[in-house]
Amino acid sequence: MGVILTLARCLEYCTAIAGYRQRLAALLGVSVGTINGFYREMEDSWWLKEITKKKGIRKGYFEMNMLSPLRAPLLYVFCRVAKPRQVVETGVAEGFSSSFILAALEKNGKGRLYSIDLPNQPGQELLGAASTGWLIPGQLSGRWHLTLGPSKEKLPPLLDELGSIDLFYHDSDHSYENMMFEFHAALPRLADGGFVVSDDITDNRAFGDFCAQTRCRYARFFKFGILQYRAP
Ligand SMILES: C[S@@+](CC[C@H](N)C(=O)[O-])C[C@H]1O[C@@H](n2cnc3c(N)ncnc32)[C@H](O)[C@@H]1O
Repeated sequence: MGVILTLARCLEYCTAIAGYRQRLAALLGVSVGTINGFYREMEDSWWLKEITKKKGIRKGYFEMNMLSPLRAPLLYVFCRVAKPRQVVETGVAEGFSSSFILAALEKNGKGRLYSIDLPNQPGQELLGAASTGWLIPGQLSGRWHLTLGPSKEKLPPLLDELGSIDLFYHDSDHSYENMMFEFHAALPRLADGGFVVSDDITDNRAFGDFCAQTRCRYARFFKFGILQYRAP
């Protein structure tokens, strides 16, 4: 049974990887050359070398971890193209996604990342609260604000404080209820053309239902979903 599930996952990944740069380019309205350029820029970067060394994992197409081109690297390329000013993220853990977003903001020369994390949740017990985001290179932390606590409690006041945001990224508690709560909290705060990005959209139907409810343009990239908000 385990082998069948692994094979099914590999097949799903291989299907998703086919043509993902073309699909990302189409979603963002840029050329494939632009997308390729940002992937290359990231692959040659000092900060990616630092993260892979610290964590001791490999990057590449056949690794289905956070360094696969369809996960944290996609966030980097996405932020290099979209150039968001205010980004809100839920779920930091070791800090893969935060690092890639922060690296893109730094290269863009503008933008701030506001992250919320409730440490020590089931499956994440090995990370103490003190090590939330430990992978984030020190030189990238100048644009980062971290709030510790449950997103249900911390997200609404953070959004009130920020007013308008350009990108909301979900990667915290993947229960249907929490995903829907976060997506719907973020949506009215998105600037016209802003984005909701979610990891682990295959865990349940939350992202699909949210897209159906909002009738916004969206795309799926393996475990990632990206929705673009357009003001009516
Ligand atoms: C999948 S991990 C995040 C991985 C991270 N984005 C990365 O790229 O390395 C999920 C994180 O969300 C935290 N978390 C779980 N439930 C949460 C909640 N209700 N509010 C905020 N954070 C939560 C977990 O403790 C964990 O640190």
